[in-house]
Amino acid sequence: MEELVRVDGAGACDADVREHVFEVGVRQVHVVLCPAVGDLAQVRPDVGEGGAGGVSSHASSGSRRSGRCCSILMIVVDLQDYREDGIPPGPVLFQIQGFEKVGRSRMNHVIAEIPAAMRMQQLLGGFEVSQALYVIAELGVATALLEGPRTVEDLASATGADVDALWRIIRFLATLDVFRTDGETVEVTDLGRTLADGPVDSLRGLARYWMETHYAPFGSLLHTARTGQIGATEYLGKPFFEWVNESPHLAELQNIAMADGARSNRGELLESYQLPEGKTVADIGGADGTLLVELLARQPARRGIVFDLPGVLARASATLEAAGLSDRVTAVGGDFFENVPTADVYVMSVVLHDWDNASCVRILRNIAKAAAPGARLVLLEMVMPPGNSPHFTKMIDLTMLALLGGRERTETEWRRLLRDGGFTLARVVSGSGVISVIEATIN
Ligand SMILES: C[S@@+](CC[C@H](N)C(=O)[O-])C[C@H]1O[C@@H](n2cnc3c(N)ncnc32)[C@H](O)[C@@H]1O
Repeated sequence: MEELVRVDGAGACDADVREHVFEVGVRQVHVVLCPAVGDLAQVRPDVGEGGAGGVSSHASSGSRRSGRCCSILMIVVDLQDYREDGIPPGPVLFQIQGFEKVGRSRMNHVIAEIPAAMRMQQLLGGFEVSQALYVIAELGVATALLEGPRTVEDLASATGADVDALWRIIRFLATLDVFRTDGETVEVTDLGRTLADGPVDSLRGLARYWMETHYAPFGSLLHTARTGQIGATEYLGKPFFEWVNESPHLAELQNIAMADGARSNRGELLESYQLPEGKTVADIGGADGTLLVELLARQPARRGIVFDLPGVLARASATLEAAGLSDRVTAVGGDFFENVPTADVYVMSVVLHDWDNASCVRILRNIAKAAAPGARLVLLEMVMPPGNSPHFTKMIDLTMLALLGGRERTETEWRRLLRDGGFTLARVVSGSGVISVIEATIN
C-alpha cells in the first residue's frame, strides 16, 4: 500500500441516500456506497480550496488530482445486510479509517490505519459521544437549527447554554457528522436532525430516554459479567421497569422513546404487512397504543385492546382519542405475568426481548391460556443473524443483558422459545428496518 492518507471520522447516510458528503478536516469526501457491484465504495474527494476531484471508477482509479489522495476508502458496514438491489436496509453507519491506493478491496482485507491504541481511545471515549448527543437533544439545539444555520452565540442564547461549552460540544460532534461549522456558524446535518423535534425520523425522545434511564445503570455491566445477574437491578435497588414507572416523567419519556425507536427500527415493514384474520387484536405491552393505532386505523371492522402496566397506560387514552379510535380500542391495565385479555390476534412488539427465556415462556403461556380458539401471535422483534457480522441486535443485546436480563435471539432461538411457550413459529417477515414480524400459531 502506498500513498496513504490517514484520516479518521464517521458518518451516516439514509437507506435511500447512497451518496454522502463527508468532511475530513478541510477536505470533503464524496462517498458513494455501491456494495452491489462488489466494491466497498466510490470516492470523490472534493478538495478544500474549491476544486472538485472526479469520481473514481469504482475502486480502480485512485484520483490523485492536486497531489491529493484518493482511492478506496474503508467503510465499516456489514455487506451481508444489503439487499440484493444494493440499497442498505436502514441507516448505515460508517467509519472512514483511511484511504489506500489499492484496487479492489474487500471488507475482510481492510487494514485499520489508525494506530490500535488511538482507535481504542476513541472506543473508550464512547461515553463522551453519548453524553454530548444527549446534551444536544435535551437542550433542543438540533431543533433550534431546523430553520437554518445560526451563530453559536445565538444558538446558546436560544437554548439556555453557555456559549463556550456549547461550542466545544458542537465542535466535537461536527467530527462525527452531527453538525457542520463554518467559523462561528453552525448548521445541523441530516444525522444531527434526528436529534430534533419534528422530523419523522426523530430520535430526540430516545436520546433523552437512553441517557436518563440506561446510562448510569449500564455502568453495572461488570457486575453482570461477574455474576450473570441484572446489573441495573443491583444499581437501582429494584427492577428497571419498576424504577422507570415510579416516575411519571420517565414513564412518559419511555413511551416517546419507544415510539421513536419503533418508527426507525420498523422502517416500512407495516406498510405492506397484513395482520392475520381475527376480530379482536390485543397489543400486549402496547405502551401508549401508538402501534395498535397504526395497525387498526385502516381496519374498521377490527376491535383492539392495548394492554400494559396501569401506570404506563396513562397516555393511551390521549393517543386513542387523537386517532379517533376510542370507540373500538380499549386500554386495559394489568400484568402479563398474571393474565392477559382474550383476543383473536396477539401483537407483542419488542416485549419478549426484554425478558429471559423462563419469563417469556410464562408470558406466552398466559397468552395461550387466554387466547380465543385458533388465535395467532404476531411478534415484532429483531432477529439476530448468525456469525460475526456487525448488527444492531448485538448492541441492544447488551442493553437487555445489563438492564433487564433479556436477550436478542436468532431465528432458531425464537422458534425454540415459541415452542416452549405453546406456539409454533409459522413465518418470519422482514422489511427495510431491523425489526421483523414473527408469526406463530397456538399448538
Ligand atoms: C420495550 S417496551 C415496548 C413497548 C411497545 N410495545 C413498543 O413497541 O413500543 C416494553 C413494554 O412492556 C411493558 N411491560 C413491562 N412489564 C409488563 C408487565 N408485567 N405487564 C404488562 N406490560 C409490561 C412496559 O411497560 C413497556 O410498555
